[in-house]
Amino acid sequence: MKILFVGDVVGSPGRAMIREYLPKLKRKYRPTITIVNGENAAGGKGITEKIYKSFLESGAQAITLGNHTWDNKEIFEFIGEANWMARPANYPEGTPGSGYIIVKVNDIEVGVINLMGRTFMPPNDSPFQKAEELVEKIRERTPHIFVDFHAEATSEKQAMGWFLDGRVTAVVGTHTHVQTADERILPEGTAYLTDVGMTGPMDSIIGMNKDVVLSTFLTNLPARFEVAKGREQLNGVLIEADPKTGKAIHIERIRISEEHPFYS
Ligand SMILES: [Fe+2]
Repeated sequence: MKILFVGDVVGSPGRAMIREYLPKLKRKYRPTITIVNGENAAGGKGITEKIYKSFLESGAQAITLGNHTWDNKEIFEFIGEANWMARPANYPEGTPGSGYIIVKVNDIEVGVINLMGRTFMPPNDSPFQKAEELVEKIRERTPHIFVDFHAEATSEKQAMGWFLDGRVTAVVGTHTHVQTADERILPEGTAYLTDVGMTGPMDSIIGMNKDVVLSTFLTNLPARFEVAKGREQLNGVLIEADPKTGKAIHIERIRISEEHPFYS
């Protein structure tokens, strides 16, 4: 059982990378399930129905989100019918959409949970309590559970890894947009990576036009951020798990850029 996860797709440069490389990555790695974080896909903030569908057409079976879930207002029109999309599960009861989905591929079911951190992030319910609740529920159906933990603080992400070790196949972080090099399999069999990194502009500040972001640091004045142009990158991770137990047996980071060419 293999899970391919591609990190935070930023704007049109990120979407172009998905169109070009997702089919190639799928041919190379033959994942059971392919998951894409799309919370920055529409101009850097949020996602539209057209983009959601384009990711499915490129080969994703599940889309995860994060703190920008509601930033493109179109989301309210289609989240109710978007059966293959999970927004952070630890929003209050009654929030539109679902915090998890279960994807069936041949005879294997894979649970995909999206959670959002609370450290240096907008206030939310406890991601740990919500994880506990959802993991217990999903494990009644399948041991294959992937958690996208959209969070800022490394400590909170590591805490989630240890909290769920042995109970889910993988805990992979998103949101900080820079891939970390700490991929490992925790002692009880959960694959862990603090942040998978983003898919979008290379010469940028976490995907945004670097001159505009830099000006805000230099002047403390507000500015309108825009997605950067130019060279692109894709960041992802591949996890392999025992098809019976759901325990991870392999994790490897994926990087595609000028410095890291793709070999099929
Ligand atoms: Fe985010």
